[in-house]
Amino acid sequence: MTTETITAVDAGIKTLKLSPPVPAKAAKAQWFSETGLPDDEYPYKHLLPTFDGHLKLPPLTEFEHKDPGLEALKHADPLAFLADAEVDELTPRFGSEVSGVQLSQLDDAGRQQLALFVAQRGVVAFRDQDFIDQEPEWQINNWAKFFGRPHIHPTSGAPEGYPEFHLVYRSPKGTANFERPDQLTSVLWHSDVTYEKQPPGLTALFLYDSPKSGGDTSYVDQRQAYSRLSPQLAAFVETLKATHSGVEQAEHSRKGARGGIVKREPVINEHPVVRRHPVTGEKALFINRQFTRRIVGLKKEESDALLELLYAHIERGADFQVRLRWKPRTVVLWDNRITAHSALVDFDTVTTAKRHGARLTPQAERPFI
Ligand code: SIN
Repeated sequence: MTTETITAVDAGIKTLKLSPPVPAKAAKAQWFSETGLPDDEYPYKHLLPTFDGHLKLPPLTEFEHKDPGLEALKHADPLAFLADAEVDELTPRFGSEVSGVQLSQLDDAGRQQLALFVAQRGVVAFRDQDFIDQEPEWQINNWAKFFGRPHIHPTSGAPEGYPEFHLVYRSPKGTANFERPDQLTSVLWHSDVTYEKQPPGLTALFLYDSPKSGGDTSYVDQRQAYSRLSPQLAAFVETLKATHSGVEQAEHSRKGARGGIVKREPVINEHPVVRRHPVTGEKALFINRQFTRRIVGLKKEESDALLELLYAHIERGADFQVRLRWKPRTVVLWDNRITAHSALVDFDTVTTAKRHGARLTPQAERPFI
């Protein structure tokens, strides 16, 4: 209801002060799969996965990575970009949710501060973003390149013409994701492409479509996983290196998954089992069940037992994990150097549910301790 108040009567002119209309309840953003529209009206159909069997890429070369987060440490207020934002902690030490910041509008200083913030919090969900509707060229050349060299995944599906996008895609017709239906759970903790010599740093994932509920992504803080080890075990694992292999992922693809393509021949690299973050200086475990194979120098049984102990610790650590619920127009950023994650396939995969998203995965420095 509007009210009329006469605030001034001057020379016969009434100044009216009208109370603002009650805002209409904002329409709740919906996933496409909730709208009931036919698939051919799907607005992101040009971004569905394609598998380009002709794309053959040479081995990756080394490059120097300067983390943008380092620049933020020189700013008077290293987190100034959050001045007008609403920031919620998902847990005290790990994970945040932010609204009131439009990622696409950040200038260089804001992006440097963002890199620092994500390094500190591990994983951050930014709500109500216009990011997904930016041009893919902007997302790759302007956004991803700011944070590192955009990685081209050796086996995953990508939208035609944009191999730098790693697509996640599942519909009732099948999946383009690496999944293990022969296992009891869909949970597969990993950090992305750790077999590369320079694995990714600040990584972005955004979904175009998702089931109404389910399909969350879980994250684990590998810094806290490290810091909970006894000083004796921590001191030992800090001396170790482990091999990380992309061979099995390529073989999985060659057997027919993901369009049967391998764009770049797989590599195996050694990384420290504990790595240090170049900006915060924090140490984190850097092993994951999907790609880590063997601790260098240990006998096989020793390596298997120690890795299994660490994996079980990481995977059981609900007190240093967060589970992120997707909403339309959310962008989740994580620091792949200090976290691991798993997609959760807990939705009805047989009937209507579709989950479609893109990951931009800029490569960072070679892990060091
Ligand atoms: C990924 O593993 O990078 C994607 C995670 C997800 O689909 O939630």
